[in-house]
Amino acid sequence: MSLVASQDLATYLATRGRLVDDALDRFLPPETTHPAIIHSAMRYSVFAGGKRLRPMLVIASAEACGAPARDVLPVACAVEVINTYSLIHDDLPAMDNSDTRRGRPTCHIAFGEAIAVLAGDALHALAFELIARAEQTFGAERTLRVSREIAACIGTEGMVGGQVLDLLGEGRTFPGGARGKEQPLPDVVREVHLRKTAALIRTSVRAGGILTGATTAKLDALTAYGERLGLAYQIMDDILDVVGEEAKLGKRTGSDAEKATYPKAFGLERSREIAAELTREAQEALRPLGSGGEILHAIAAYLLTRDA
Ligand code: IPE
Ligand code: IPE
Ligand code: MG
Ligand code: MG
Ligand code: MG
Repeated sequence: MSLVASQDLATYLATRGRLVDDALDRFLPPETTHPAIIHSAMRYSVFAGGKRLRPMLVIASAEACGAPARDVLPVACAVEVINTYSLIHDDLPAMDNSDTRRGRPTCHIAFGEAIAVLAGDALHALAFELIARAEQTFGAERTLRVSREIAACIGTEGMVGGQVLDLLGEGRTFPGGARGKEQPLPDVVREVHLRKTAALIRTSVRAGGILTGATTAKLDALTAYGERLGLAYQIMDDILDVVGEEAKLGKRTGSDAEKATYPKAFGLERSREIAAELTREAQEALRPLGSGGEILHAIAAYLLTRDA
């Protein structure tokens, strides 16, 4: 049982969500800035109503380690801008070919493929400009460390590598390690999910700790929490692709038929159990944070039961 009541968590997410949205509005160039179409496309995707999970995690982990939310807003916005960039590219015809995202037509449907590619590129660049702003509050050493970690977790070791493996796995059957050449599906999908989703989520949690100068014990706790939470989050995403409602999710369901997913590797029921086990482990990992970890604990519980 979480110590934070669900109403308190809802209030927490709403107030911090407003802080993040106001800051994003300040950090993104106005729509009228020349050339207007690229700024319109960036804003179209960023302000389409994402859950803002990753910025919430930066803020909650910073607060758990004693820093106020406003101090970490540039980095919180940076990880959201990275998430949005990754989704614009993920939806392209060359990747998942999705026509709906966050309840509206995807960026390439609204603006064309070329502008969608460039909007993703521009958000990616903006993210590192925002990260650099942390230097004013937290100094060069911690800012460089966070910048380097975020770069590593979205590159070929992390998100991009995971997206490549996700695409390479499409339409394949993974016959269970035949002649040692093929990895079995459960191993493949775990690696894909750890890289494409858990890496950025883990780093979002760590960023709040690194910036505030958390002790090694606390940072290890945040790392273990973030990795398990991130894997559970993508498992729930796979489950919701099978059982979720399009109107609530704001994106198409049933789109993973050809993909390596947890439901395909383990079945729906076992996938749910694995997500629940990972969530429990994530929550247990928070122990070194004491009462400071209560919000992170509650976020994990909430994500396990989400339908959007
Ligand atoms: C979608 O991310 C991609 C995944 C890693 C599952 P979110 O589910 O966090 O999407 P938004 O940001 O709320 O739109
Ligand atoms: C996307 O995973 C992960 C990213 C790094 C963008 P999915 O392809 O499962 O995400 P959705 O279901 O389109 O949101
Ligand atoms: Mg994808
Ligand atoms: Mg997709
Ligand atoms: Mg998905």
